Amino acid sequence: MSDFLLQLSYLFGSITFIVGLKQLSSPDSARKGNLVAAAGMLIAIIGTILFHQHDGTPIGNIPWILAAMTIGTIVGWMMAMKVKMTAMPQMVSFFNGMGGACAAIISIVEFHSHPDGAPGYILVVFLGLVIGAVSFSGSVVAYGKLDEKIKDFSAQWLTYFNLLLLLLIFVVVGIAVVQPALLGGSVLWILLLLSVLYGVLFVMPIGGADMPVVISLLNSFTGIAAAFGGFLYSNPVMLTGGILVGSAGTILTVLMCKAMNRSLLNVIIGSFGGSSASSKQISGDQVVKEISVTDTAILCAYANKVTIVPGYGLAVAQAQHICHDLEKKLEEKGVEVTFAIHPVAGRMPGHMNVLLAEADVPYPKMVEMEDANPQMNATDVVIVVGANDVVNPAAENDPGSPIYGMPVLKVWEAKNVIVMKRSMRAGYAGIENELFFHPKTKMLFGDAKEMLGKLVAEMKEL
Ligand code: TAP
Repeated sequence: MSDFLLQLSYLFGSITFIVGLKQLSSPDSARKGNLVAAAGMLIAIIGTILFHQHDGTPIGNIPWILAAMTIGTIVGWMMAMKVKMTAMPQMVSFFNGMGGACAAIISIVEFHSHPDGAPGYILVVFLGLVIGAVSFSGSVVAYGKLDEKIKDFSAQWLTYFNLLLLLLIFVVVGIAVVQPALLGGSVLWILLLLSVLYGVLFVMPIGGADMPVVISLLNSFTGIAAAFGGFLYSNPVMLTGGILVGSAGTILTVLMCKAMNRSLLNVIIGSFGGSSASSKQISGDQVVKEISVTDTAILCAYANKVTIVPGYGLAVAQAQHICHDLEKKLEEKGVEVTFAIHPVAGRMPGHMNVLLAEADVPYPKMVEMEDANPQMNATDVVIVVGANDVVNPAAENDPGSPIYGMPVLKVWEAKNVIVMKRSMRAGYAGIENELFFHPKTKMLFGDAKEMLGKLVAEMKEL
């Protein structure tokens, strides 16, 4: 009976993961999806504690398990409550790293419990260890980079070194599986060390603009490592959860690679982007034209079509609500308004969609880059709100630029471009943007929320 209840709780958990994931695919139902999956996980955990038996013995150490769960819940809850919306990507990266660490620890424990396991079993133990450890250290470095605590470090030798390290890991895993006596128990620690080092060194050189690819890749690593853990424990709910995260992360990685026009091989070796590429310097005699709020309001109010391009600055300023107000005000004046969304705008996949959905911007108004670009030359005014890298023409015309080849929003094809940001500072990739000096561009300097507020107020006067 207890086994039946255990399997039932796992089945329930697995189903909630799938339903939850489906609900996460739309901002409307995402919150509910998260809760549904979390509730399923809770039931699977309770089911394991109550009904799981090993050789007829129920689970022991219950006070320790409950204490660990309580501490984890409190710490996670406090972090999630305290985190600023703009620091969300870092936190997600950190939590992802913790998932990888858990998977690596499972492998360590399992190796000690069954050191003489069959080769297939030992292979799964080591793969879980390697992938989990890479995901852990890589995610911690990604966290540091997103939080601007760690700077890119890139060198040609590092590419070869990383390749060598990866090869060495494969060789050690191969030896440990085929000739376990050769390396003995120390193999576990050798692999752990090599994998942690690889995780650090493969994320270190990845240039600013290319971080989205590596974040989703690390995400899929954690899922795969957790699936190995589920396989080791013959635990269907862990296996299902791991496979779902692993496959969702892989699909996201492919989409991000497409969005950045990069190959996955380059990401794994960690050779692209970084500061090694030398971008074209913008000559000192180029001038920047500024525009006032009043002139911007007039320009927009008499336009037929206005496109708003949101970027990371929209998240920093928390200007999504006032941005929606601007959209409504313009529509009252008969102007057609759309939002052009770049797939890696902001700092996490779907960042802009989430922000705009939070402000109740209707979904049909959010136009993906592929559909927005062909409409640019029919647009009278583009308002770039806190975006920079995703509208940088260097991606198209400067082969020396670290973002060369990445598809961008071709805002310069519109009749007028207004760029709203606080200064001439660079975006995440740390490179200059020729768009600011383009003949069609005018800069509206200031905080996005404040400037949009003034623009809406001005619009009311017209
Ligand atoms: P960025 O290129 O990072 O530019 C954001 C701009 O916003 C900055 O130049 C900044 O200029 C401006 N800004 C900041 N605070 C502002 C405020 N309060 N009001 C107005 N403007 C403000 O952003 P993007 O164009 O969205 O591009 C995203 C970048 O992040 C890409 O390079 C992408 O590869 C990378 N990235 C993305 C992700 C994902 S998954 N989306 C993950 C990691 C990295 P000022 O300081 O002058 O105001």
